[in-house]
Amino acid sequence: MIEKSFHIITFGCQMNANDSHWLARRLVARGFVEAPLETARAVLLNTCSVREKPEHKVAATLERVRSLTGGNPDVLVGVLGCVAQQYGSTFFTAQSQVRLIAGSDGISGAPEAVERLLAEPGLRLSLLDFTSRYIEREPVHGGASAPVAYVNIMQGCDNFCAYCIVPFTRGRQKSRCAAPILDECRARLDEGTRELVLLGQNVNAFGRDKSGDGTPFAALLARVAALPGIKRLRYLTSHPKDMRPEDVAAFAVLTPLCPHLHLPLQSGSDTILARMGRKYNSRDFLNIVASLHAARPDMTLSTDIIVGFPGENEDDFQATLAMMDACNFISSFSFCYSDRPGARAALFPNKTAPEIKRDRLLRLQAMQENLSRRWLQGRIGEETCLLVEGKSRRQTVSGQTSWQGRDPYGALVHVALPAGADHTGRMAPVRITEAKNRTLTGRLAGDLW
Ligand code: SAH
Ligand code: SF4
Ligand code: F3S
Repeated sequence: MIEKSFHIITFGCQMNANDSHWLARRLVARGFVEAPLETARAVLLNTCSVREKPEHKVAATLERVRSLTGGNPDVLVGVLGCVAQQYGSTFFTAQSQVRLIAGSDGISGAPEAVERLLAEPGLRLSLLDFTSRYIEREPVHGGASAPVAYVNIMQGCDNFCAYCIVPFTRGRQKSRCAAPILDECRARLDEGTRELVLLGQNVNAFGRDKSGDGTPFAALLARVAALPGIKRLRYLTSHPKDMRPEDVAAFAVLTPLCPHLHLPLQSGSDTILARMGRKYNSRDFLNIVASLHAARPDMTLSTDIIVGFPGENEDDFQATLAMMDACNFISSFSFCYSDRPGARAALFPNKTAPEIKRDRLLRLQAMQENLSRRWLQGRIGEETCLLVEGKSRRQTVSGQTSWQGRDPYGALVHVALPAGADHTGRMAPVRITEAKNRTLTGRLAGDLW
């Protein structure tokens, strides 16, 4: 076991992935090295409680850690993130190796806490307080540059959709000030990053809270898009009720802003949307989609859908399928509704039976596969540009090394590139030659840059 070594296991959304990424870089800056689970001195679980299964995964993972480390008391286990925020110090009693609990705002103090806990074997620390403002984290510098970098612009959510645990686990919405966001974006671009993804649970509501400096989202986007070196800009996640006309207009005027938006619909039924507390109906959603296409004719959309919300009947579900078709989503994440203790819908009557939920999920996913396939097939022959992210898992295409990257719409494209060079982070003009179920293959159609 290396004295200063760590292993992080991450569940959940992109914000969690980004928190883990930051934590790893800060631990490395403090002299730690990353190690396999079996040999790491500190094992950190960054958890998610958005649906039932991830929570079970935490319990199963803690058990796996205990068995792989032989229950060694020298191993420090930390439970971080949303499940930690919710269940707090119960993890101290669940597993004796657990000596750190850090919730959503507590993660900013985790690197220091890990160091302290390794030096003081008898100590336990719990960092569970919510802060009233966005806590600036220690910046990360150095290390390998990534073609794509994620930058938090806010924390938490104020929407309290009836099914959702996030406002309880991440706390109230807290926007970050524009200046440190821009500094972080600049730092990434200076390292060689070419695509920035701005992150938050509800990014279009950025600036509309007491934390931060009140910069509106569209103004922030324009400032980020103007930074030297930026080639692509995206953001995640949007709430339809907060998409302002100026956010839509940004797709027409900001060159780096990619023609793709993840816009969670959740349901196509107006009754269900109202009960979910989403504050838009299907007509509002279609209007946004139409305005996005008017701003940017090649705009593509992806979405999130919940099936089997309490009281959802077959007609409601059919309305969701009709919306899927009308919006022509190129991909979607779909979930069976799951009760979250504390969220309002847990108390709603008329729960949907598990087998009906599963059946609807399969039907919805079959429809999505058709929509995705049709879109991918339709792209054969098209010229596009990839930001190369690394070598493909299937390493060779007709004897040449295969690389993969994403096009402006976020589709994964494989392409054979000349041997003997690292193409990571380059832009590759390609012509699409083949469509698989979820990915595309292309041929290099110009100079890499
Ligand atoms: N802030 C984002 C993402 C929230 S969580 C948004 O507002 O869209 C990611 C997705 O998980 C949600 O979009 C929703 O589709 C799903 N989800 C959240 N709570 C859920 C629950 N209780 N059961 C099933 N799916 C859920
Ligand atoms: Fe959850 Fe709704 Fe907030 Fe998204 S907007 S995080 S679904 S409460
Ligand atoms: Fe999960 Fe928390 Fe993200 S509940 S989806 S990790 S905000």
